[in-house]
Amino acid sequence: KPVLSVASECAPLVKTGGLADVTGALPAALRTQGVDMRTLLPAYPQIRKQVEMGETVLVEDDLFGGRAELRRARLGALDLYLLDAPHLFDREGSIYLGPDGEDWPDNPERFAALSWIAARLGAEGHGDWAPQVVHCHDWQAGLAPVYLHAMGAAGRVKTVITVHNVAFQGLAPADRLDRLRLPRWAWHPDGLEYWGQISALKAGLVYADRLTTVSPTYARELMRPEFGMGLDGVLRARHADLCGILNGIDVEAWDPAADSAIVPYRQPRGKAKNRRALLDEFGLPDGDGPLAVVISRLTEQKGLDLLLDVLPPFLGQGGRLALLGSGNRAFEAAWRAASDSYEGLSVRIGYDETLSHRMIAGGDAIIVPSRFEPCGLTQLYGLRYGTVPVVALTGGLADTVIPANDASLRRGVATGVQFAPVTSDALADALGRLCELYAQDKLWEKLQRNAMKHPVGWDVSAAEYAALYDRLGTHT
Ligand code: ADP
Ligand code: GLC
Repeated sequence: KPVLSVASECAPLVKTGGLADVTGALPAALRTQGVDMRTLLPAYPQIRKQVEMGETVLVEDDLFGGRAELRRARLGALDLYLLDAPHLFDREGSIYLGPDGEDWPDNPERFAALSWIAARLGAEGHGDWAPQVVHCHDWQAGLAPVYLHAMGAAGRVKTVITVHNVAFQGLAPADRLDRLRLPRWAWHPDGLEYWGQISALKAGLVYADRLTTVSPTYARELMRPEFGMGLDGVLRARHADLCGILNGIDVEAWDPAADSAIVPYRQPRGKAKNRRALLDEFGLPDGDGPLAVVISRLTEQKGLDLLLDVLPPFLGQGGRLALLGSGNRAFEAAWRAASDSYEGLSVRIGYDETLSHRMIAGGDAIIVPSRFEPCGLTQLYGLRYGTVPVVALTGGLADTVIPANDASLRRGVATGVQFAPVTSDALADALGRLCELYAQDKLWEKLQRNAMKHPVGWDVSAAEYAALYDRLGTHT
């Protein structure tokens, strides 16, 4: 079954967060389900450096201010269409932000262009490859369903939109409606208008045939005002078409038994060497408590300010913390300052994939105190590496960790610690609980073993996506 996946990022080519991991892993995972997935991405400079641009598939003489060509390319399991539009994408640095750290002012045009080409490829196909489904990821691909309607192709080609994070909605001023080639009939509150602006995400949520998000709990949360960020009403109206499909991780890239970045291990006790190396690398003195790690974007979403608040009691119980992150300047500064004041805390500001592997392998626990978390991937890496997750009870964190309580301990199935509500008090309790569990050698090893056995691959979820595409193809 031919499916076109459309996104603004895709690992290993270009990544700012988990979205890239997911779009990068899905094609290979879906192949075993009989899905022939090709991926459409902008031809950013960092992608052009990694792949060879092949045959030209489509041309637009003037796509929002310049010539654009759609080109073929390949990388491993990724079968690619790259949108070569230098006036929109030939920019160094961040794919979303200008040198001033703000969104590029023409982001609406840049990703409208991506969505427009997605719709054309969906409607026209390429040679004998004609996608039956166009699968859009986040707001950057959100306009594709409305363009397909406007092109009169929405009956033939079905659309799915996946919400990876409802916080990013792709708003644009209303006066760009014509410029963005959006149909006037869509300009109303039950269409793509959002409080007087154009919302690319809302357009996707209204005009796509099916909606998904990246965990069942986030699917439910999204329909509530506390989590829906203004789109909960739209999502409630479409609840019959909305489902949550949990993300997996690439279990080959993340395999403690074969990871070239670490001293490989198959048993929890094999973590000891990696732990020692991690303490040394971060210049941390060992303590009696657990060595916890954090690998994260530093934004409000991730709740790490709460962790800053509760460091003294955790470090006081012999805990240690190694943090790798980047993002919001104020959060970066706060963590730098904290690392100067506490001996048991060491911080790396930056982005470092290999270091993240060493941290997952060497850590005893991984902390994810997010205020909301559509799925979250680092707790899944933690599970796979026997690094016990301490997570907030929200979104995909709620769906992937089995909290250690009497019931789960008696059954021998616990894999981590969960806390709610997402406050510093509850996090402090959770860290206290972590220290107690860590102090009981047998119990701790059991938690680690359970974690390492937990299925975190793509098998189940890939089958769910394939079934979703099938239903779309046959029933409408
Ligand atoms: P989000 O997409 O909201 O940032 P996820 O947990 O889904 O959260 O995915 C984040 C991805 O980015 C993971 O693969 C994580 O390891 C990676 N990551 C985040 N920050 C860093 C960093 N500073 N260095 C290396 N990898 C990072
Ligand atoms: C978003 C979410 C994260 C999720 C990722 C991949 O970035 O914040 O929770 O894991 O997308 O779906």
